[in-house]
This record gives sequence, C-alpha cells and structure tokens, in this order.
Amino acid sequence: MTRSAAPQEIRIGIVGAGLMGREIAAAIQRWPALIDHPVRPRLVAVCDINPAALEWFRQIDTVEHFATAHTDLLALEDVDAVYIAVRHDLHEHLYLDAVRAGKDLLAEKPFGIDSDAARRIIRAIDETGVFVRVSSEMPFFPGAQAVIEYARSGAAGRLVQVRSGFLHSSDLAPLKPINWKRQARYCGAAGVMNDLGLHAWHAPLRLGWRPSRLTAQLQDLVPARPGPDGVSVPCDTWENAAVHADVETPDGPFVLDVSASRIAPGSKNTWYLEVTGMEGGARFTTADPKRVEYFGTIDTPIGREQSWQSVEVGSQSVWPTVTGGIFESGFSDAILQMWAAFLAERAGALGDRFGCATPAEALACHEMADAAALSHAEGIRVAPASDTAS
Ligand SMILES: NC(=O)c1ccc[n+]([C@@H]2O[C@H](COP(=O)([O-])OP(=O)(O)OC[C@H]3O[C@@H](n4cnc5c(N)ncnc54)[C@H](O)[C@@H]3O)[C@@H](O)[C@H]2O)c1
Repeated sequence: MTRSAAPQEIRIGIVGAGLMGREIAAAIQRWPALIDHPVRPRLVAVCDINPAALEWFRQIDTVEHFATAHTDLLALEDVDAVYIAVRHDLHEHLYLDAVRAGKDLLAEKPFGIDSDAARRIIRAIDETGVFVRVSSEMPFFPGAQAVIEYARSGAAGRLVQVRSGFLHSSDLAPLKPINWKRQARYCGAAGVMNDLGLHAWHAPLRLGWRPSRLTAQLQDLVPARPGPDGVSVPCDTWENAAVHADVETPDGPFVLDVSASRIAPGSKNTWYLEVTGMEGGARFTTADPKRVEYFGTIDTPIGREQSWQSVEVGSQSVWPTVTGGIFESGFSDAILQMWAAFLAERAGALGDRFGCATPAEALACHEMADAAALSHAEGIRVAPASDTAS
C-alpha cells in the first residue's frame, strides 16, 4: 500500500480521565489499523481533577503533560484538538473554555446539560470557527452503516416505520449505588434522554427524519438509591424514554419510534435501527453484531412469500482497516471509526463517508427531549422546537 502524502500529525489532549477518557486513549493507540488515513493523532496531554485518574495514562509514552486543571491543558499551544468527557453539568463550562481557547473539540454527548446550554456552546463555536463534533459511535458499527446505506438508497420505498434505540439494563438492581448519571443536577432533567438519547437520535436525524410531532412516555422506576454512606439518595432521573413520532416525507408521514432505556431488562448497551417500507426493509442490532437483515419477497415452492433474510457483515465500516474483511467488529472498533471520521472531516478528507454527530444534531436531540418531557407531563402531542442553528 502506498500512501499519497505523509499523514498530518494532530496533537490531542483528553480532559476527563474516566471511563471514556481511557477508551479514547486506547483507540488512539490502535491508529495504525486504519489504512491510508490523512491524519496521525498523538495523545500528548491529559487532565483530570482527580490526580489518581491520571495514573493509568502514564503507560502511554506519548503523553507529555499531566494536568489537574483543564485551563492548564487548554493553555498548551501544542495541543490542536481536545476530547472532553466529564459530567453533563460541566459540559458547558469546559466546552466553552476549549472553544474559546481555539481548540478543535470532540465533545461528549449530550453536549451541554440542556438545550439552552447547547445553544450557548453553538454560539461560541460560530464566533470562533473551531471544528466541533459530538461523540456517538454506535452508527459506526458495520451493520449500522449497512442499514443507513440501505435507508439512503430508497430501496425501502414509501417508509412505513423506523425504530431506533439504545437500551441498557444495568440499573435493574434497585440497590445499585447512586452515581452522577442518576441525579438530575449532574445528568440533567432529561435523565436517560441526556445519557443515551443522542445514540438513538443520531442516525434518524442524519437521515433527515426530524419529527413534526411526537408523544412520549417517560418512566422513573427507581426513585432512590444507596449513597456512599449507605443512606438513601434521591435518584431523580428518568430511567426510560419512549418517543412515538410522525415524520413527514414527500410520500406521506411515517412512524418513528425512538427509545432510550436504562432499564430494558436483559439489554446490555444494545443499539438498534430498523427501517421498513412498502418495498423492503433493513435492520441491525448490536445484540447480534455480525448480522444485518433485509426484508423482501422470495419465491418458494409454495409461492411468493415475505421474508427477512440474514447477511453476516464483516469488519469494514467508514474508514478501511487492516482487519480482515470477514472478521468481527465491536465497540472499540466503532470508537476507532468515529475518531477516524472526526479527524478526517477536520482535515477536509471525509468525502461522502458518514460523519460524527454535529452540534446541530446534538441540539436537535435536546429539542426532542424537551418535547418529550412536555408531551409526558401534559399528555399531549408536541411539535419539537426547530431553531437548530448550524
Ligand atoms: N460515547 C459513549 O458511548 C459514552 C459512554 C459513557 C459515557 N459517555 C459520556 O462521557 C462523559 C463522561 O462520562 P464517563 O462515563 O467517562 O464519566 P466518568 O465519571 O467515568 O469520568 C469523568 C471523569 O471526569 C473527571 N472530572 C470531573 N470534573 C473534571 C474537571 N473539571 N476537569 C477534568 N476532569 C474532571 C472525573 O474525575 C472523572 O475521572 C459524559 O458526557 C457521558 O455521557 C459517553
């Protein structure tokens, strides 16, 4: 394989050395798996207010700077782009500081604790012109890409129904200790729609399926959880959100069902997308990560039948890799693909490949959550706000 030009080196800083900070650091170490990518990221700096969280990063020999204040990391002139993965109530402050420091940013969802915060971040991006995208890796599974491509092709004909969702069930145990993701002041009043919503909305919004009206049912199944000292602490976030929406198309409206759940018994980080129309359909779930199913008719000895047919997908997604085409893909591959898309788009080299969620899509997701909360509270159908700016 010959590379047309030497890849451009981009120096990366990570703020928030928790679960996702470590995942991204590990993905960057796997960069050589990508074939002929125009960019070569180098993780040079990491920040966490908890010094102990920085220790894990000492095994990565490219990291030169260890900080406990994000302003110190953002002041480093040799950091080109940052990834920030902190509590939702801290997003606005840290994202604004990063953007105003002139750093390009891969932000974590939900991109501000609510829609007003997202709008303020977008205003700052518009003022500074930095490149910002929002983390949502599940559509980078090869099977997800196959369904998205199918939807774009129009092969389904007039759309009947689209189902998109992201399901966890780690909160089924009522005695699981409280953490920040289960408290509205840290996670946001939208609860699970803040935590998992963008995962479920990214593909529908990218496909142009913005609801005209929606109804929602929200569930608060566990009102309190044990705190650090065993004392019961309010768990005041929505655990589950089910949205049932109308999407207008030139062929007429179709039904869009979007679910985000922390208590979907049996589910473990299960993302799915199903598109059905009058002429065909396609579906994928990460619960069965090699399989994509297509709907159509087949001729059988007893006549023509409707059928879901199954295809095993391999490893290839948005950016080609050295991984054998028939091999399996997983969560960390999707993270690597998301980063490949982020840095390729930043370099102007993504072309028509699927890109990371935009700030406008993240704001639209907040607007869906606002509409869902109103629908649930009032028992009414709601037209989501659509002031998405950029
Ligand atoms: N894309 C995904 O699949 C995915 C998965 C999990 C979480 N997330 C998102 O990632 C973000 C972080 O979640 P997490 O699970 O990694 O959280 P976490 O609690 O594991 O880690 C957060 C880290 O941020 C640090 N921190 C707190 N305040 C800080 C500050 N001011 N400056 C620097 N560091 C600070 C904490 O000490 C902690 O180490 C959230 O927005 C969450 O929604 C995304």
